[in-house]
Amino acid sequence: MNKEVTGTSALQGTITLPPDKSISHRSAMFAALAEGESVIENYSQAADPQSTLSCLRQLGIEIQADGSGTVVVQGAGIGGFREPSEVLDCGNSGTTMRLMSGMVAGAGINVTLDGDASLRSRTMKRVIDPLQEMGALISGRDDNYAPLQISSGGRIRGFRYPLPIASAQLKSAVLLAGLYGEEPTEVVETIPSRDHTERLLQLPSESFGTGIVIRSSRSHLVPQQNYRVPGDFSAAAFWLVAGAIHPNSEIVLHDVGLNPSRTAALLILQEMGADIEIEKSDTAGPEPMGRVTVRSSGLRAISLDPALIPNCIDELPIIMIAMSFAEGRSEIAGAGELRHKETDRLRAMSNLLETAGERFEVSESGILIHGRGNHRPEPGIFESEHDHRIAMSAAVMGLMADGTSSVLNAECTSISYPGFWSDLELLSQ
Ligand code: S3P
Repeated sequence: MNKEVTGTSALQGTITLPPDKSISHRSAMFAALAEGESVIENYSQAADPQSTLSCLRQLGIEIQADGSGTVVVQGAGIGGFREPSEVLDCGNSGTTMRLMSGMVAGAGINVTLDGDASLRSRTMKRVIDPLQEMGALISGRDDNYAPLQISSGGRIRGFRYPLPIASAQLKSAVLLAGLYGEEPTEVVETIPSRDHTERLLQLPSESFGTGIVIRSSRSHLVPQQNYRVPGDFSAAAFWLVAGAIHPNSEIVLHDVGLNPSRTAALLILQEMGADIEIEKSDTAGPEPMGRVTVRSSGLRAISLDPALIPNCIDELPIIMIAMSFAEGRSEIAGAGELRHKETDRLRAMSNLLETAGERFEVSESGILIHGRGNHRPEPGIFESEHDHRIAMSAAVMGLMADGTSSVLNAECTSISYPGFWSDLELLSQ
């Protein structure tokens, strides 16, 4: 499916965001690891978190989902998974594959994890290596790629693991495998990445040098997951940028997840001069949320602090769009991880910016953007490369263009944001 997007004279309205993808995955996985029933409200209907539900069902977990977002999971406890008769299909979801690897590493069952062509091309060595070191019997195609094979007979030993990459998926895979060990697993994190796993599992942590050490072990009791999943900040980021760069806009976003390990894009956009108002809600729960309003703003260029990158890794494509509409030269450095996402996002964004006639220089791990301030880019035919975040970035570029653009293979937005195109229509006037 291709979508046409026409430059709009105004962007106005109120949006209910899709539920957070990262938290949805974890809420269901951790509910499966808990003893007894968990009730999760506002679980995401997007394709990736649905892949997690189907994998859990194949592992023998009873799950009722009524289609309205309420999901009831009968937890089997640590070690309670059933050996699946078929390959677990993780679809397009790196989070499903990497976290699931840790979750079944010590379960004493044989499991094969596979995915689509994009997922099969993404490196899994980052989880294979530490899980093997912990005693799991895990292997991948060419020692690096899906399908991943996990065999019964491994015995998990706790170990101390300084994270070599600031990756929440890697951190979570190791901590989940650690739940099978007698001795604690200690993950040492010096550059903070999203901390949903630690929050939802209530894992103990303490400061360690300039970072923290987080622990998990067999003696840890996995809490039930009775809560409401907040709106996805990563989805909100598309509207925050669209609202800031469009000259006639006011967009209100409700129940946005505001976990500080996810919201660096807010700080970055505010530093660029974006007019963003945040009202935190006082609802209790493991994840903070609130209402965010964005209005038209004149943006200035910035050099992004590389230490913030893990806290805005999924927002970097849309931040590049914001930089194209700022006055002057902006820089993102130290973002080589973008090359390991659903697509090589540095390459995909270079193609998008070039199609729109923007000026930039891309390197192996970053990009320099010579922002043209408030302007109408050229409409174009934008390749999504089947990557949801590239498709949504192209759509925001299209809303600013002088004419009608096309986004190719636009259905991929359903990976994280099934209502994206109807929300775009609702806001455009
Ligand atoms: C995620 C972590 C990030 C992010 C992905 C979701 C998670 O990946 O890009 O979309 O839910 O843990 P890395 O932790 O590998 O950077």
